[in-house]
Amino acid sequence: MRELTYYVAVSLDGYIAGPGGEFDTFLAEGDHMGPIWERYRGTAPTQLAEAVGLSVADGPFDTVLMGWNTYAVGMPDHHLADPYQHLRQIVFTRTHGAQPGSGEVQFTDVDPVDTVRALKQEEGKGIWLCGGGALAAALTDEIDRLALKINPVILGDGIPLFEAGKYDPAAWERTSTQAFESGVVFAEYRRPAA
Ligand SMILES: NC(=O)c1ccc[n+]([C@@H]2O[C@H](COP(=O)([O-])OP(=O)(O)OC[C@H]3O[C@@H](n4cnc5c(N)ncnc54)[C@H](OP(=O)(O)O)[C@@H]3O)[C@@H](O)[C@H]2O)c1
Repeated sequence: MRELTYYVAVSLDGYIAGPGGEFDTFLAEGDHMGPIWERYRGTAPTQLAEAVGLSVADGPFDTVLMGWNTYAVGMPDHHLADPYQHLRQIVFTRTHGAQPGSGEVQFTDVDPVDTVRALKQEEGKGIWLCGGGALAAALTDEIDRLALKINPVILGDGIPLFEAGKYDPAAWERTSTQAFESGVVFAEYRRPAA
């Protein structure tokens, strides 16, 4: 069955962005970049990847899930209304519809859990949960794997990896850890078998 992987950059204190949504303290250069891209090829916006000569082909995912706030980060500042054109894109929102230039991006107010369970029944590659913390909290019980780019920064406040108070404590199994000279630790976990 297809798996749902929450692949995300996070601070040492568990935030995926600062209080204003800023993530410029997360390292976009360094020796971690190449190996993590090789493992999770295709997890950059299509236009940005192509602009720096990275191929988005042959990655582990064919579908990406975003909460509205995560999707909205791409616009208007970055003009990315159709960010991951090489993937099937699903944006969860109860208040927004198609946006100018959003192409085949699917906007839905269907329960994310029901959506993910239906996706898992389909044939295909992995499903990438891009974020953010609110959507991740709604989908906690459906996440099969965590892939965390742990950045060597403390933000003090911001958007948590999972919105607080929406799930029960649980232990996860570590499947791999890589530490880089840049200070980034890439840690992967899977949900323990029931
Ligand atoms: N570090 C990283 O790698 C990374 C990755 C992704 C995102 N981020 C950051 O995360 C932040 C956004 O995270 P966030 O937690 O604020 O928001 P989010 O999860 O991206 O989006 C929340 C919105 O999604 C919709 N939504 C959430 N749950 C829903 C449900 N059950 N049913 C239908 N719609 C639902 C709602 O939109 P409506 O209000 O429109 O209904 C809700 O307001 C941004 O600052 C972004 O930069 C960081």
